[in-house]
Amino acid sequence: MSVLQLDLGADSYDIVIERGALQRAGELLNLDRKVLVLTDNGVPAEYAQTVASQAKDGYVFTVPQGEDSKSIPTFSRVLSEMLRLGFSRKDAVVAVGGGVVGDLAGFAASAYMRGIDFYNIPTTVLSQVDSSIGGKTAVNLDGIKNIVGAFYQPKKVLVDLDLLATLPDRQISNGLAEAVKMSLTSDKELFELFEKGNIKENMDEIITRSLMIKKAVVEQDEKEQGLRRILNFGHTIGHGVESFEHLNGLYHGECVALGMIPMVSDELRPRLIKVLESLRLPTSVELNADEVYAAMTHDKKGEGDSVTVTTVSKPGTFTMKKVQFKDLYPMIQMIGRSV
Ligand code: GLY
Repeated sequence: MSVLQLDLGADSYDIVIERGALQRAGELLNLDRKVLVLTDNGVPAEYAQTVASQAKDGYVFTVPQGEDSKSIPTFSRVLSEMLRLGFSRKDAVVAVGGGVVGDLAGFAASAYMRGIDFYNIPTTVLSQVDSSIGGKTAVNLDGIKNIVGAFYQPKKVLVDLDLLATLPDRQISNGLAEAVKMSLTSDKELFELFEKGNIKENMDEIITRSLMIKKAVVEQDEKEQGLRRILNFGHTIGHGVESFEHLNGLYHGECVALGMIPMVSDELRPRLIKVLESLRLPTSVELNADEVYAAMTHDKKGEGDSVTVTTVSKPGTFTMKKVQFKDLYPMIQMIGRSV
């Protein structure tokens, strides 16, 4: 077991990295109260049940798998359920699932009675390395991702790598794209570990090192005023690709993989492409550059006709700069095969 403490003053919390932590949730978390365990129907049902059964008064609430559950109507259903069950300010919400469940559960916990305790038990690589820590919670509205939400830190995060055993390989690679992202900006040795291969054997180290990067970034810039933007490395073009209607079949991490390629130096690009290929992540995609460009310029992180992007020339280093959207157009073409 290892424990990382995310230091945010009064909002500090532990990230417990331990195989089998799910079975010890009752010891590791304060479940001696009413507990709503939020999960989705893509997560093995016994995971949420295991947590609920360790609570004094545990209830499982299951939403449909997928991004559509990150909505105001689902958020409202979760709150109504807590109200119906008589939840008080002293009770708690536990997320058992990936990014969608974590975002929804965290936002519901932040809003119910102006904020009740929230714990996160991420069950995907993507949520274990990235979205479960740092306190970003949100739902989507009118087709815009994460436009309604709050910074609301969990009280504890349990990272149990045994929960990844049931994940399909494509989902594992999807999450590892975010770990590659963090290695490029912040940890040369982690990038070299990806270059060496043996990913499955090195999973504990990959996840722990990624969490250490994320922790350090969030500690310095919780509310994304500056440094935290490096976590959006690859996401500007990536989000454009993700919103492009014909490509909805691509997962978030796959879009981030594509989005990183134009943002690294010419020297580094072949090394990155080799790593992405070894993880079976896409390195080019059929797209219509005009449509991706249009989607990208609607990204909420834009500042008028420009956006701040992160670029990487050598692993473990980064530069942030403001660029005109129009300068990104040729970069979209770099990863595109025209339709
Ligand atoms: N996943 C990006 C962030 O937490 O800031």
